[in-house]
Amino acid sequence: ALAQTVILVDGLGPVPVVKGDPKLLPRKVLQFVAQKAFLMRPRAIYICDGSIYERDEMARKLTAQGVLKKLGAYSDAYIARTSPEDTARVEARTFVTTKSKKVTETKKPDKGSSEIARWMSPEQLSDELDARFPFCMRGRMMYVLPFSMGPIGCQFSKNCVQLTDSPYVVLVTRIMARVSPAVLDAIGDGDFVKCIHSVGVPRPSVVKIPHNWPCAPSKLIIAHRMEKKEIWSFGSGYGGNSLLGKKCVALRLASSMGKAEGWLAEHMAIISVTNPKGEETFIAAGMPSGCGKTNLALMKPALPGWKIQLIGDDIAWMRFGKDGKLYAMNPENGMFGIAAGSTDRTNPGALTALKRDFVVTNTAETSDGRYLWQGLEDEIKGQEVTDWKGKAWKKGSKAPPAHANSRFAVHCADYPNIHPLWDSPKGVPISAIIYGGRRPAGIPLVTESFSWSHGVFLAAALKSEATAASVPAATSDLQHDPMGMRPFIGYNFGDYLKHWLSMEKPGRRMPKIFHVNWYRCHPVTGELLWPGFGENIRVLEWIIKRTTKGQYPAVLKSAYGYLPRQEDLSLCGLQVDFKELFKVEKKFLETELKETRDYFRAQLYKETPARIGIELSEFEDRITRM
Ligand code: GTP
Ligand code: MN
Ligand code: MN
Repeated sequence: ALAQTVILVDGLGPVPVVKGDPKLLPRKVLQFVAQKAFLMRPRAIYICDGSIYERDEMARKLTAQGVLKKLGAYSDAYIARTSPEDTARVEARTFVTTKSKKVTETKKPDKGSSEIARWMSPEQLSDELDARFPFCMRGRMMYVLPFSMGPIGCQFSKNCVQLTDSPYVVLVTRIMARVSPAVLDAIGDGDFVKCIHSVGVPRPSVVKIPHNWPCAPSKLIIAHRMEKKEIWSFGSGYGGNSLLGKKCVALRLASSMGKAEGWLAEHMAIISVTNPKGEETFIAAGMPSGCGKTNLALMKPALPGWKIQLIGDDIAWMRFGKDGKLYAMNPENGMFGIAAGSTDRTNPGALTALKRDFVVTNTAETSDGRYLWQGLEDEIKGQEVTDWKGKAWKKGSKAPPAHANSRFAVHCADYPNIHPLWDSPKGVPISAIIYGGRRPAGIPLVTESFSWSHGVFLAAALKSEATAASVPAATSDLQHDPMGMRPFIGYNFGDYLKHWLSMEKPGRRMPKIFHVNWYRCHPVTGELLWPGFGENIRVLEWIIKRTTKGQYPAVLKSAYGYLPRQEDLSLCGLQVDFKELFKVEKKFLETELKETRDYFRAQLYKETPARIGIELSEFEDRITRM
């Protein structure tokens, strides 16, 4: 008889391995797989290699299950539909576990849980995991996904192994991270980040599941055991909760490692901007989810002769080089971008990327095998449309065709305007950092900070209207989102701000920090004052001039920060209300100051860094003098 490949699990016996050779797993990886197989009891084990054959196999499997459909108009493109209960990140169920609470949370006078990095004790986490993971993969396949955040085997890259019972996660991780047997070689005898993910629905399952998308929203948990470099995720297959390399490893875990090692892991796009003279500037842009990073990174500039190239669209790992410059690298391999609203007018770049080897999730589709979402309705020429819930959809229907947080997953390398250094392990030298959120009132189109610490203060005070990227979705209330990182800071917020402030050292070329607001509305009509998208190049042009020696145009000083003079902003061909776009009002800033002070008091209490306190009182002085 043929000898079947197995992994011998202590206390359980042989578990079949249906693909891959367990003998090629490094000892610690094999141990990890065996221990977790004992815990979760999958029917078999599948060792992934990231190949296109594996993609095709996952696609066949998911198609048979009714989760996935091929989009025939492109090659190797698929549409996935999730359960309507599993469409976004869930911050309230996301926890950070450290032995000592003060490593994760600031001390607060009240007992309410922190808005940033919610701590859970190791004891409670053990209980929570014990209530979920034993036998959770019964009747399911356990996939072993070796992947690297950052180019495989490079000094600053992170080797990870994710165990998952979701073929969707296998399919999409292959795009979003570097999945390869070479990661196992890079691990060797060394350590790696351990990711454990289950959709939380063992078989046989008696509940009826929409689109056959298993999930267990009532038992959802996403937990980070920082000291052990372990991520545990249960109950969701949605990308933000299940593609653990992204927000869990590359932001929460990496930010806390960066704190210890002197570098930064940030929720930022990284772009190259080249002006008509051929001069190149690298910019990092930090914004909350749903505020425009991917759009900026894929922008088609409206001004002639300008070029934007993509380095990264969501995450930047940044550290100072020996030359004193700040280098930013993209640890990801793909983009998981918001689909709905991407059109030829707003984000032509996204559409040019989606030609082959991609997956869209919770979009609509047309009967001729194309994706469809809000903004693309005019392209329907008689085809039938099936919406994200799988129902027939017609132009004029009340419900939108795609979920507001529908996403595309595509390889960075398949984007035509990818920068040649996009996968450089060293990264690119950053001249300017841009922050911004959705601020319908009071905040100017662009502001330059007075100094590094003032920039850190502006970024820490960042607010935005909520978006559909996390649950609870889209109330239009303003929420604080320091550095666009509120859901992703992996440690004590006070220490995070101190870490940012400590970046400024003699001999370092500090990037200038700016704040932008594409979303200001007219106070009376409520209409957007700025056309945005490709026209944002006009703001970048000014930012670049302000960072390039010998070009510095003069600025106007306001209590909020430096503002451009009207003559220095290229506005030719645009009908915009410059006065309204840049108005800075005393009453508004007074409210802003009070509210920001209250927020810092509530979230930081006595751990407010002294320098932030000084920035607050200098801001107050400037307002008083207005
Ligand atoms: P995450 O991927 O969730 O981190 O979000 P993101 O920052 O990448 O946001 P994205 O670029 O996908 O944009 C989110 C939404 O903002 C989309 O609906 C865009 O259409 C809209 N948006 C982006 N840029 C602009 C702009 O310049 N002006 C306006 N009005 N809307 C914009
Ligand atoms: Mn994001
Ligand atoms: Mn994005």
